[in-house]
Amino acid sequence: MSEIKKKPVKITETILRDAHQSLIATRMTTEQMLPIVEKMDKIGYHSVECWGGATFDASLRFLKEDPWERLRKFRAGFKNTKLQMLFRGQNILGYRPYADDVVEYFVQKSIANGIDIIRIFDCFNDLRNLKCAVNAAIKEKGHAQVALSYTIGDAYTLDYWKETARRIEDMGAHSICIKDMAGLLLPYKATELVEALKAGTDLPIQLHTHYTSGVASMTYLKAVEAGVDVIDTAMSPFALGTSQPATEVMVETFKDTPYDTGLDQNQLAQIADYFRPIREEAIASGLLNPKNLGVNIKTLLYQVPGGMLSNLTSQLKEQHAEDRYYDVLEEVPRVRKDLGEPPLVTPSSQIVGTQAVFNVLMGERYKMVTKETQAVLSGEYGATIKPFNAELQKKVIGDKEPLTCRPADLIPPELDKLEAEISQWKQQEEDVLTYALFPKVAVDFFQYREAQQKKVDLTVADTENKAYPV
Ligand code: CO
Repeated sequence: MSEIKKKPVKITETILRDAHQSLIATRMTTEQMLPIVEKMDKIGYHSVECWGGATFDASLRFLKEDPWERLRKFRAGFKNTKLQMLFRGQNILGYRPYADDVVEYFVQKSIANGIDIIRIFDCFNDLRNLKCAVNAAIKEKGHAQVALSYTIGDAYTLDYWKETARRIEDMGAHSICIKDMAGLLLPYKATELVEALKAGTDLPIQLHTHYTSGVASMTYLKAVEAGVDVIDTAMSPFALGTSQPATEVMVETFKDTPYDTGLDQNQLAQIADYFRPIREEAIASGLLNPKNLGVNIKTLLYQVPGGMLSNLTSQLKEQHAEDRYYDVLEEVPRVRKDLGEPPLVTPSSQIVGTQAVFNVLMGERYKMVTKETQAVLSGEYGATIKPFNAELQKKVIGDKEPLTCRPADLIPPELDKLEAEISQWKQQEEDVLTYALFPKVAVDFFQYREAQQKKVDLTVADTENKAYPV
């Protein structure tokens, strides 16, 4: 009898990044995370995703924390585990395309401060927008993972995904991630997709999905059977709902099978015990909305990510037009089609969503066009899988020639200018990158930081005065 070949599935733990970004608006503080790092480091995770995405913005804006400082503390604590971050291609962690010098410097500093694996994605899957970050990660000896933003549509055939995987391998990336931000990937489709990618590339394939539509654990099961190498999960107190499937559940599922992760349930239980009170506290304070914990079947019906649904609700609420919710949901796929049928992920999800709201509320489609819609139609975000609606493009940009080159080719270097602008606040080299991403929020933070430091100085001075009265 031939022996079944063992192929342990690897686990990326997301509780320090995507899980709390998805469930509690990225509000977990460094202080809440650090006490458990030593135990997490002993688990044997493939990696811990702990930085990037919205964590950078939220640290500065809401928690008044320096994200770079957080990363250095993680690096000091995680002695054996790889640290992973999420990176928005040419948009870095912000919402607009940056010049190559900023992208390269950001990658360099991320790796210098402790990141091992950089997961890089583009909202259009335009690989030209990933090239600069991928090359920088390779140059800095980091692991460059390219993430395909998963979506559904006529043009997104298995051949398309397979061919894209092959091109990613040609770019020199070290692995590929299927990034299913909306939880759209169904179990049997996952089998087909993983098989197609495996046919296109020899690179390791990782799968990232969300539990939003309720199918994610089954999707992982089928993907692992089809040969996926790594899955993203979150410890149970911050799993399910809009977050990832639970780590412990997936570990138990594959126990004593060829895919056995080898992770220890008792050790995992101690980590869950640590996070449970943080979850309870978040529920009690209203930070964790129980609505986010259930199954949201609308994501499957409308193919819209959960985060986008809640954004639409709040935009409509502001306009006192909540009764137009379903009109907007029906407008979303039409706008998406006009804009070349891109995946819906930051920032394309915000662009399509906001334009759909305008189209419905103004009573006439494209009566008002956002700056971002205009930029998309001008080619400033790159190329989409399908052409833009030509009539709309003409209406919005007129006779202006749309870009066909890599958009960042037209952005002149900006680091020197940014350095000059923040010289008065600079305390560490990384500050210029913080400022590049969120200029206003960064300056508010730098002011806060200085004020805090002065306070500390005063306290020290007071103590000294008490000790040595003059
Ligand atoms: Co995610």
